Amino acid sequence: MAETVRRIGVLTSGGDAPGMNAAIRAVVRTALSQGAGVVGIERGFHGLIHGEFVELNSRSVADIIHRGGTILKSARSEAFKTPEGRQKAVENLKQAGISAMVVIGGDGSFRGAMALTAMGVPAVGVPATIDNDIACTDVSIGFDTAINTVIDGINKIRDTATSHERIYVVEVMGRESGFIALWAGLAGGAESILIPEIPYDLDAVYQRIVQGQQLGKNHSIIVVAEGVDGPPSGEAESVAMRVGRYIRERGGFEVRVIILGHLQRGGNPTAYDRILASRLGHKAALLALQGIGGKMVGIVHDRIEAFDLQEAIEGHKAIDEEFYTLAQTLSSL
Ligand code: F6P
Repeated sequence: MAETVRRIGVLTSGGDAPGMNAAIRAVVRTALSQGAGVVGIERGFHGLIHGEFVELNSRSVADIIHRGGTILKSARSEAFKTPEGRQKAVENLKQAGISAMVVIGGDGSFRGAMALTAMGVPAVGVPATIDNDIACTDVSIGFDTAINTVIDGINKIRDTATSHERIYVVEVMGRESGFIALWAGLAGGAESILIPEIPYDLDAVYQRIVQGQQLGKNHSIIVVAEGVDGPPSGEAESVAMRVGRYIRERGGFEVRVIILGHLQRGGNPTAYDRILASRLGHKAALLALQGIGGKMVGIVHDRIEAFDLQEAIEGHKAIDEEFYTLAQTLSSL
C-alpha cells in the first residue's frame, strides 16, 4: 500500500441497484484488512459537498450483504457539476484525511469519479446499475437480480394471461438500453420483445399474436423496454400503453398493460450479484489503496480487470442480437 493512502472513502450514486450493499461491505472490509480506514459518504456527490461523512468499521457493514438498496443512500447532485461544488467536495475530502475514493454507480457517477481524479483524489468506479448498459464489463451489479424480479413478474402474469386468454404488454426499465427487456423476455418466453436498439414493426408484432392463435396459443406476452419510441399518441402515456392501445384497436384480442416500474430496482440481491459485488468491491478498494484512480473495475469472461474510466464512459455496450433472434425463434412455434 502506498504510504499516502491510509484512508479511503466510498459512496453510491445514481439509481440504486441490488448488490450495492455487498459492494460497500467488500470495500470496507478489504480496506480494513489492509490496515486502512474507510469513510462512507452519504447521498453520493451531494454528501461529498455537504460533508455527510460517516466512519465505517467492520460492524457498520454487518448484515447488509443480502439487502437491496444502499445503506449509504443515493442522490443526484447538480452542485457537483459546478467548479465551486467540486472544489468544496475536494476540500471536505482533504479535511477528513481521505486520499482516494471508490464510487459505486453508473456512468453519471463515473464522470464524477473522473472529476475527482483530475482534481488530485484518485477515484475508482464500480459498475452498478440494473440497466447493465456500462461498457468494459460483461455485467453490472444489480442486473441479475432485476431480471429475476422481472421473470417472477412475467411468470405471475402468464398465469392470469392463460386463464383469461389475454395479451399482456409488460413494460420494464431501460431508458436507453434493452438489456433487461431482452434477457427477461428470452428467459420469460415472451412472444415479442421491443428494445431501443432494434427497430420494430408493430404490424409484425400483431401478426405474431394472430399466428400464435392459429397455432393454438391462447395468450401472448410482449415485453417492452421503457426507452422504446412508441407508436404516436395524442396523450402523454408510456410506450407500453401505446403498444397495448395499438393491438386493442387492431382488434380480436383482449389486452392488458402492466408497468413493472421501480420494483425492479429493489429486493434481495441474487447470489450472482452478491458475488460479483464482492469481487468488484474488493478489487476497487485494492486499487484505491494503491492510489490508483481513473479506473473502473469490470468483469470480462469471469475475470475481474481494471479499465480506464474514460473508456468505460465513452464506450458503448451493444446488445447481443443473437439473443433477439433466439427469443423470436423459440417463441414463434
Ligand atoms: O437505474 C436505472 C433506471 O432504472 C432506468 O432504467 C430508469 O429509467 C431510471 O433508473 C429511473 O430512475 P429514477 O426514477 O430514480 O430517476
